[in-house]
Amino acid sequence: MDKDKLTQEKKEKSGPKMSRRKFLAICAGAIVLAGGGWALSRNELANRLAGRAMGAAQGKLPIDYVRQVIAADNEHARTIMWQSDSAMREPAVEYRLQGDEKVSSVKAKQETFTDDGVTVELYTAGLCGLEAGQKYEYRIKADGEADDWHSLQTDDGGDFSALIFPDSQSNDYSDWKHLAQDAAKRNEDADFFINMGDLVDNGEDHRQWDAWFDAVAGIIDRIPVAPLMGNHETYNEDWKVREPVAYLKEFSLPQNGSEEFARRYYSFDYGEVHFIVLDTQTDEAADFHQGLLETQQAWFREDVKKTDKKWKIVLMHKDPLQYRIANRPERQEGFSDEGRAWMPLFDEAGIDIVFSAHLHTYRNRGHIKNFQRDESGPLYILTGVAGNVRYPGLWVDHALDKVVAPQPETDNYLTLAVKNGTADIACYLPDGTEIDHETLKK
Ligand SMILES: [Fe+2]
Repeated sequence: MDKDKLTQEKKEKSGPKMSRRKFLAICAGAIVLAGGGWALSRNELANRLAGRAMGAAQGKLPIDYVRQVIAADNEHARTIMWQSDSAMREPAVEYRLQGDEKVSSVKAKQETFTDDGVTVELYTAGLCGLEAGQKYEYRIKADGEADDWHSLQTDDGGDFSALIFPDSQSNDYSDWKHLAQDAAKRNEDADFFINMGDLVDNGEDHRQWDAWFDAVAGIIDRIPVAPLMGNHETYNEDWKVREPVAYLKEFSLPQNGSEEFARRYYSFDYGEVHFIVLDTQTDEAADFHQGLLETQQAWFREDVKKTDKKWKIVLMHKDPLQYRIANRPERQEGFSDEGRAWMPLFDEAGIDIVFSAHLHTYRNRGHIKNFQRDESGPLYILTGVAGNVRYPGLWVDHALDKVVAPQPETDNYLTLAVKNGTADIACYLPDGTEIDHETLKK
């Protein structure tokens, strides 16, 4: 939610320009000596070190977090990224239609990125000119060697399904890992996944980014991620607002025509849907930039005008509704600053569904237009919580709430399936129990 320090633990900063491998080795040693430490780090580091050792034995490339990132046009393009501790020679991505002998290759852009005292090399390759609705496979090539093949499927412009994960920020990412992995197993045909912002609790803490990527291992190399930026991506380790540099580097997202606000908000197409991803961090951005809201709203109006897709879906981190908080009478039920700023534009643009997050509770508020119940307005879904930061009993139900998750809440995930003129949204508990289901027809 806001700047509250949800992870209290302070960590020792590693020295400047330390490589991650060196940092991991020091952490692993420290864990053995101390017999404790950050619960997640201990498990994840052990797994990572074991995996790295196995990888080395098998002659695989020493690379991390091979990932697919959503492109603006997913019928014909996809972005592949990965990272390594030290620079590699001639990094590239090789790809081919599954089962085909003809292999294409595209060079990767390499960038050295230092943050939180740790330096990594980031690689980005844009695959374009792909055939729609095809199964491909790709692999990383560098230092004259090739890594394993990964599958990649392009959008066929028709039916698709996606996984939607709310805020995954945690002080122990094991719940997030279980949720994501189990959801992916139950939905093996999902074409991509969305993470609704606040991916991590602290946007500068590289250990949390590592934990986030570890949690989606085996998923993110196979299907693309469409991430949103949340306010927690803008926090430094002193819990002050900074530029969301790690988020912007980790995900090479579609351009939006703005140099100043590049990739903070973007849109993409999948199937018959045009997705519009907003940056709701206008307050946080104000320390560094002026005019994020106005620039973004002008972009939104133009962007939505250009699409001929049947469905239009908005993804925004901060919720447009405002909830009362028990014992805080000054906070009234109604609409948030983000809601007052954006909801009239959603009405005007004929948006079908608005997914939001930030409050760590699942609520289906039904259709709202002109700030009141109206079946001709967008459907407003507050997506819940996918990490372990929960607020039991915090929010007082809103008059517009139609469905509220069972209390006290655990984590949850959603599926979105758009096919045969319907958009089907379902919400599930971690064990796969369905707690809400809504179908829109068009
Ligand atoms: Fe948030």
